[in-house]
Amino acid sequence: MSKLWSGRFSKKGSRLLDLFNASLPFDRKLYKEDIKGSIAHARMLAKQNILTEDEAKRIEEGLKEIQKEIEEGEFVFDIEDEDIHMAIEKRLIALIGDTGKKLHTARSRNDQIALDFRLYVLDSNREIISKILNLIETVLKIAKENTSVILPGMTHLQHAQPINFAYHMLAYAAMFKRDVERFQSSLDRNNYSPLGCAALAGTPHPIDRDFVAKELGFKGISVNCLDTVSDRDFALEILFNISVLMMHISRLSEELILWSSYEFQFITLSDEYSTGSSIMPQKKNPDVPELLRGKTGRVYGNLVSLLTVLKGLPLAYNKDMQEDKEGVFDSVETALISLEILKETLSTMKINRDKMQKASKIGHLTATDLADYLVKKGIAFREAHFITGRAVAKAEEIGVDLSELPLDELKKIDSRIDEDVLETLSLTNSMNARDSKGGTSINSTKKQLLFFEKWLEEIRG
Ligand code: ARG
Repeated sequence: MSKLWSGRFSKKGSRLLDLFNASLPFDRKLYKEDIKGSIAHARMLAKQNILTEDEAKRIEEGLKEIQKEIEEGEFVFDIEDEDIHMAIEKRLIALIGDTGKKLHTARSRNDQIALDFRLYVLDSNREIISKILNLIETVLKIAKENTSVILPGMTHLQHAQPINFAYHMLAYAAMFKRDVERFQSSLDRNNYSPLGCAALAGTPHPIDRDFVAKELGFKGISVNCLDTVSDRDFALEILFNISVLMMHISRLSEELILWSSYEFQFITLSDEYSTGSSIMPQKKNPDVPELLRGKTGRVYGNLVSLLTVLKGLPLAYNKDMQEDKEGVFDSVETALISLEILKETLSTMKINRDKMQKASKIGHLTATDLADYLVKKGIAFREAHFITGRAVAKAEEIGVDLSELPLDELKKIDSRIDEDVLETLSLTNSMNARDSKGGTSINSTKKQLLFFEKWLEEIRG
């Protein structure tokens, strides 16, 4: 059979053209969406008396048969069919005869791909949301088990102030929560059916777009058809949202890599999610977080790529837009597997509380507390800062952490320092002193944990 659009052509296109032009090798992934859309379209055509009930029924049965063929690996994908829409339509005609030729009434491949791709992206949003929620659940579980584990909080990757490990994990819960909200809002914004827009201007047939939208589970229909067949914002949004998600995953991965190094030893990654070296027998490498960090690059690339494809395109459909799919498929698949493996890596890692505690005694983490203590004794902050600096120098000189500098040494530096300073200098007290809303105290951390647990329960329920 020749191409379905070959009427105005007198010569067959070249094989090279087929290879270059076809999207079938990748858009075959959209077969389910394509068939679902066609069934809804056929039902609508029958309801509107554009097809008879019997014709619509035969089309629907033919399409279901094709879906079965594809899923059982019996369908022959021929690059000459160009794309999934043509491949399925041609097979339908072969299966049910001339009635199959009526399916494309009041439709164009332009609104057809806008529909298929949108359905895929909306579903991917849902799938990603559910996987992020599972990840958040794991993060919260780790937080819950570690509400009184101290580790050095850092700025500039230098020890700064003692913080709570649960508090540290909850920072990621906050990031992933925003990610969920971003996917959700994109889902809500783009949940409108494009079908019935036809090529670019709508159709003279008495169609019922709202019926199709309802059949397909959309919130409603798009407003302007010229925009609808040109619009790929929903694809850009998922690419951006995945980019931000992967950036968060990458930052957490970077910490896992650092924490599992000999220098830190804050965590031990499970053997199940670590790899060895082909030459160095002693090695255990954090390949999972490294790959997560690395894959963030291709996801950013996919976003920039589609932004560039769309920039400067005149309305409405242009073949450039066929370049929209592969990057989105890649980013979605990357996000899904990344979320899954990150969750497993986190839930199987060992948290070395003693190492975190020990590291907290390096770097004079309670220096700010000493300065604040002096301020409370009526000393101006700038002077308090200087006195504390002297105390730090003394601690370095005798080789202890500030939190362990003997009281008589402190008194020698400034006589206004009393015995009550020792409480101030304790790591636990320092951490718990930061009890302001959103701070790292055990009390405040537990409140935050409760907040995220409640949110998770509500969004799932
Ligand atoms: N394969 C095309 C794509 O992926 C489908 C739309 C084709 N439309 C057209 N007018 N050639 O974008």
